[in-house]
Amino acid sequence: VRENGVIVAIDGPSGAGKSSLTKLLAKRLGYIHIDTGAMFRAVALSAKRAGIASDDDKGLAELCQGLEISFARDGETCRVLANGEDVSSEIRTEEIGLLTSTISARKPVRQALLEMQRRMGAKGGVILEGRDIGTVVFPDAEVKFFLSASAEERGRRRYLELAARGESATLEETIAKVIQRDRQDEGREHAPLKQAEDAVPIDSTSLSIEQVLELMERTVKERLAQG
Ligand code: DC
Repeated sequence: VRENGVIVAIDGPSGAGKSSLTKLLAKRLGYIHIDTGAMFRAVALSAKRAGIASDDDKGLAELCQGLEISFARDGETCRVLANGEDVSSEIRTEEIGLLTSTISARKPVRQALLEMQRRMGAKGGVILEGRDIGTVVFPDAEVKFFLSASAEERGRRRYLELAARGESATLEETIAKVIQRDRQDEGREHAPLKQAEDAVPIDSTSLSIEQVLELMERTVKERLAQG
């Protein structure tokens, strides 16, 4: 156990419920949560604005060097800042999601964010959610979860989210995009989405958020009790 507590890694594909659960679990434990997907999204948005192609590794490396990503916590909400600018809403579109999946496969981007994430989490008392936290960023995290759900269920959840925001999409389309993103995230060369050997696997397809939350909280507390 580190200065501020343990490191909890929550990895898994998009739409498995990582974001909601990470926030809720952080609140229960009094931990900080770090949404690493938002950091990759901030890089993708910045690259798009700067007109840097997604295979331009040199351009991406330079972009990352000059990019400071931070989180501004204000009660329940957490804003994502890129060089001080609040990009929280802009990074959440489908277009940026797909671009992020491509750009996050590039080595210089992974390297830059790896270092940033290690700095942010080193003292413990944090929950990091992402794809490679338990395998690459913090292979020594004290608690690791791998949260998944069927592609149909994840597509359905995503579709409801989009509909609630007034974005038009069909359920079929949304499921197809989930599957496409899984393939990209699992198939890439650097830090592919993969379950760590020592991660606790949780399939949330037919579990409620509350059920998953309780399981996670119990697991972390058991680990903390071991000292
Ligand atoms: O979790 P999310 O949907 O916000 O993630 C967006 C993309 O970023 C996703 O396609 C995978 C990528 N990502 C990653 O490669 N590594 C992480 N630790 C987090 C996200």
